[in-house]
Amino acid sequence: MAEGAEQRQTVFTPHELQQKVLDSEAEQLLLVAGHRSGKTSVGAIWLIREIANDMKAGIKADYLVLGPTYRILNQSTLRTLFGYWPRGMGEYKKQDSIIQLANGGVVWIRSADKPDAVEGLTARRAWMDEAALCNETTYDKVCQRLVQKAGEPKGRLLMTTTPYGSPASWMNIRLIEQRKFLPWLFYINFSMADNPYIDKAVYDRAKATMNESIFQRDFEGRFVQIEGLIYPEFNRHDHVCDAFEIPSHWPRWAGLDYGWSDPTSILGITFDPESKKFYLFTQFYKNRQLSEVIGKYISHNNFTYTLWDPAAVAVMNETRSVCKLRFEQADNSVDVGIQRVTKLLKENRLVFFDSCEDAIREMEGYCYAPGSTKPAHDNSHSPDSIRYGFSKNLAGIYDLIRVGGVSRKRTGNTDFDPLDLYKKPKSKRNKKFYTNDLLPYESFTDISGDD
Ligand SMILES: Nc1ncnc2c1ncn2[C@@H]1O[C@H](COP(=O)(O)OP(=O)(O)O)[C@@H](O)[C@H]1O
Ligand SMILES: [Mg+2]
Repeated sequence: MAEGAEQRQTVFTPHELQQKVLDSEAEQLLLVAGHRSGKTSVGAIWLIREIANDMKAGIKADYLVLGPTYRILNQSTLRTLFGYWPRGMGEYKKQDSIIQLANGGVVWIRSADKPDAVEGLTARRAWMDEAALCNETTYDKVCQRLVQKAGEPKGRLLMTTTPYGSPASWMNIRLIEQRKFLPWLFYINFSMADNPYIDKAVYDRAKATMNESIFQRDFEGRFVQIEGLIYPEFNRHDHVCDAFEIPSHWPRWAGLDYGWSDPTSILGITFDPESKKFYLFTQFYKNRQLSEVIGKYISHNNFTYTLWDPAAVAVMNETRSVCKLRFEQADNSVDVGIQRVTKLLKENRLVFFDSCEDAIREMEGYCYAPGSTKPAHDNSHSPDSIRYGFSKNLAGIYDLIRVGGVSRKRTGNTDFDPLDLYKKPKSKRNKKFYTNDLLPYESFTDISGDD
């Protein structure tokens, strides 16, 4: 998507299925398609054409571009829109998040994760990119905003999206499965293979090697039940958030899964003592990285400790000689680790910053190998590093994991400081001994409350 974003593309020759979208006169259009199949491009062209036609007809109106988050809007939706945007049609006012049209109309640019994203505006045409990542309420609100003044026809909506979520998601149940009864809806599905403008080899390779249902979802753009999914409860709505600045008193540590031809994944973890949520706030995800580079990333993030892939002890020791930080071998009990992560997901207490894209993608595709009780190798790198990050009871982490689920006596203390390294230990009972004492630390927290 980065390519072609900067240079303005003046000519657009739609592929066959994109043409069908452009030809439809339905009130609502739903295009569900695989990655890189040309969804965002046709969405941008559709909106530009609609605005241009209105301008030619002397109609001054307002329009809406909506994405699930500002990050997706900025990285993909708007880049594509401005790649095709005709000179002189209107000017982007970043500060106000609008495009001021030359005829006085406005294109509202809104992100669905902000409450009241579409309150108080109306739109003659709306385009929701990656609409399946928005919730049902957002869809309903957008529909209400398409109402124009009395006597005017209803506005039109185009949704372009990859099929995020299970077949039980609102988009599938309410629109796709009901489409025969919805005369106002035009539904179309296309696959990456329908886009002649990309290298078909990527598609062929994926088809030959990938888990079939994940291939169906990601490349063919179908809502499918994924067999053997290890974290079926993971979803972008509950488990992904915009990045925020982490308060300095929150603890930070990491889990690391090492690879050479495969990527090394390091995930930084933090904990909000108020909400009791864990946030995965930063990720390193690259293959062929020397210990210097890995050590630099860890030092830069100043993790209190890093739990290493137990299969990479040599690299761990090498990295330690570079950056003198606390490293420990993780415990690689796969089932227990998966159960721990599942518990946190079910309680909505494991949340990924949306910058941790590789981790989010891998969580959605992490599967058991066919006919096996062991996870498959595909998509396992980030999930392994997460598992490692929670695999040892360093700094009282098991108590933090436990506390959200079962009821415990509340401490009621307000001066909770999970990383107060210099506070005297409250009781001898908490004292722990570690062999690797490069950096001394105490428990992140004392949540027992009984002293
Ligand atoms: N009609 C077209 N003509 C030329 N290139 C296209 C066309 N449709 C899509 N592409 C290119 O294909 C790639 C994927 O398109 P995009 O719209 O970003 O896909 P998606 O949103 O489905 O991931 C981009 O590089 C885009 O420029
Ligand atoms: Mg897109």
